[in-house]
Amino acid sequence: MEYRLALIGFGTVGQGFVEILRDRNVELTEQFGVSYRITGVCDARLGSIHDPSGFEPEALLDAVRNGGGLESLSAIDHGWDAMRMAEDSAADVVVELSFTDLETGEPATTHVRKALESGKHVVTTNKGPVALHWPELSELAAERGLQIGVEGTVMSGTPTVNLGLNLLRAANIRAVRGILNGTCNYILTRMEAGSSYEDALAEAQEKGYAEADPAGDVEGFDAAGKVVILGNLLMNEPLSMSDVDRTGISGLTLEDIESAAAAGERWKLIGSLERGPDGVKASVAPERVPLTHPLSSVGGAMNAVTFDTELMGEVTLVGAGAGRVETGYSVLTDLLEIHRTRAG
Ligand code: HSE
Repeated sequence: MEYRLALIGFGTVGQGFVEILRDRNVELTEQFGVSYRITGVCDARLGSIHDPSGFEPEALLDAVRNGGGLESLSAIDHGWDAMRMAEDSAADVVVELSFTDLETGEPATTHVRKALESGKHVVTTNKGPVALHWPELSELAAERGLQIGVEGTVMSGTPTVNLGLNLLRAANIRAVRGILNGTCNYILTRMEAGSSYEDALAEAQEKGYAEADPAGDVEGFDAAGKVVILGNLLMNEPLSMSDVDRTGISGLTLEDIESAAAAGERWKLIGSLERGPDGVKASVAPERVPLTHPLSSVGGAMNAVTFDTELMGEVTLVGAGAGRVETGYSVLTDLLEIHRTRAG
């Protein structure tokens, strides 16, 4: 079965995804009986093209590499904005990869809404629409018999949402505790090795882990967005950003790190959800984790999550939390899930 895709946003994640399609399309057809045709791409910086006959992945990547931009490719339609791409493109799925805004969720939320209203499935790695508008968007999708894939919003392509939603939900998830921000984990790991907070943050920025405004990482907003997403999806709790009791890592000193080490503990920024008699308590805060707990050994920009379940006890998943191919892979897994659901 062939799926036509419209990409909104063609930055690192979009390019990573298109590289995967370029390299794996034959295997995808052999393994899963699917193929993907990219019929539209728009990007605020690189321009916009649309053509129902589709674009070769390599031609799209080349247009970025050679500096010509998307408009340099021949196409039936040029210059469509993201709203028009979401509404009018000849696509079965809109892949929404524009920048995250955790205050308004826009413009991504409008893109998602328009795509659903015009009968298209959605896959997004954008935390904004999911953290801020999940009840409305998921209801709209259900009304129309459509799906929204959101695996890449938490821990990139590491299958956190899928594991919780499809494989552990019946085990009754009572609590979730995770290292959900790679930048903070990288900074804490470097500080343990003796770096100053400022040097470690500069390194995380150089390596490309940090958000454009690192306050989003170090003050815990990014992790809080992921906590809200996990609460809504996996614990069925209609949380919003203001429900998360949030503290970042900017107040931690080298002395704090050393005194934890002396006690056989390690500071980690922990995003947590815990079901109690009064509902789910959500927080993000630096915690001293004992060296005996699996989360303590997760170093650098790596992410991890521990699900505490009634039937399976603790289940811990460790994996990438960001990255070009890793987040691109989340788009592929969501697309395959759409196929499985429709085919089944
Ligand atoms: N800035 C984020 C992080 C990227 O450091 O984990 C993924 O959301």
